[in-house]
Amino acid sequence: MSPAAPRRSWLTVRAMDVVTSAAALSLLSGCVGLLGLLFRLRQRSRMKAHLQDAVVVITGATSGLGRECAKVFHAVGAKLVLCGRNREALEQLAKELAASPASEVRTHAPSTVTFDLADPGATVAAAAEILRCFGHVDVLINNAGVSFRGAVLDTPVDVDRRVMETNYFGPVALTKALLPSMVQRQRGHVVAVSSVQGKISVPFRSAYAASKHATQAFCDCLRAELEQHGVAVTVLSPGYIRTNLSLNAIAADGSRYGVMDETTARGRLPADVARDVLAAVGGKQQDVVLAGLVPAVAIYLRTLAPGLFFRLMASRARKEQKPKDA
Ligand SMILES: NC(=O)c1ccc[n+]([C@@H]2O[C@H](COP(=O)([O-])OP(=O)(O)OC[C@H]3O[C@@H](n4cnc5c(N)ncnc54)[C@H](OP(=O)(O)O)[C@@H]3O)[C@@H](O)[C@H]2O)c1
Repeated sequence: MSPAAPRRSWLTVRAMDVVTSAAALSLLSGCVGLLGLLFRLRQRSRMKAHLQDAVVVITGATSGLGRECAKVFHAVGAKLVLCGRNREALEQLAKELAASPASEVRTHAPSTVTFDLADPGATVAAAAEILRCFGHVDVLINNAGVSFRGAVLDTPVDVDRRVMETNYFGPVALTKALLPSMVQRQRGHVVAVSSVQGKISVPFRSAYAASKHATQAFCDCLRAELEQHGVAVTVLSPGYIRTNLSLNAIAADGSRYGVMDETTARGRLPADVARDVLAAVGGKQQDVVLAGLVPAVAIYLRTLAPGLFFRLMASRARKEQKPKDA
């Protein structure tokens, strides 16, 4: 045997090792992929079973995310109660959904209930009307909301109250009015469409961020208290979505802000976010941030390095203030 022979066989053994490990790795990744696919399919069928024929109430269904949620929940066979202030827009959407092409599941003609969340009396009466639509509520999606743009120094407290009425007290009143029926049935699901700004606050959004922080806190208590009654609670915290939210925002002087912010214009499509909402509700997830890497990092920074987070926000406030002062 030549002296090179043992070296060749060593090389051959190494090469075979590499080939075997590569084959094992690809087999393993194939198995993981397959398991992932099976898991997702199982999740999807559980989600559909949970929502097929379920009575789902969606507030703020006339526009943006609420309107897209109506479409995806309708398509999986939910019995919808569409809520908003604009009766015509709600009835138009209900008609569109009822006339939409057949899907693979049995769909239902939606009902509509018109009321203003900022009017406490109207909200309690609306809850009774909502219950009359299908006899009970399985899922309440508190989606309606209004944003705010302005400096704390320029904003009278009446404006803070208006934002809190729509984003916090209205949904809380509606939830409380519907809860006894859920508790009696020992089943139900309360969903809040909060915001990344329910976890961190950025300058010139004080009333909005406060209302969303309050929503998060209320829902965390609610989840703990209602688990024993079979009622689930989900808080969804999206980042920017391409809707009319900034156009409809309340300005410091109480007027309509009326500007499509660049961040909102560059946000995710509401239809994509609606699919995430469907998955989170179908999977009864408890707390979901529907945003990219930067907001996710900012949320951790607020907890782990608050001093740094506050410095960054103060610098952002100075930068955003400058063009207004100029
Ligand atoms: N867009 C974003 O970047 C973003 C990011 C994170 C979270 N969110 C949250 O997503 C939710 C939906 O907002 P959107 O982005 O879809 O904005 P949008 O297009 O402005 O829709 C807001 C909806 O809320 C309803 N609404 C407002 N005030 C109401 C009141 N007093 N009573 C009853 N309904 C009222 C509106 O109905 P009317 O037709 O009656 O006005 C409309 O249907 C909000 O909770 C918002 O905070 C949005």
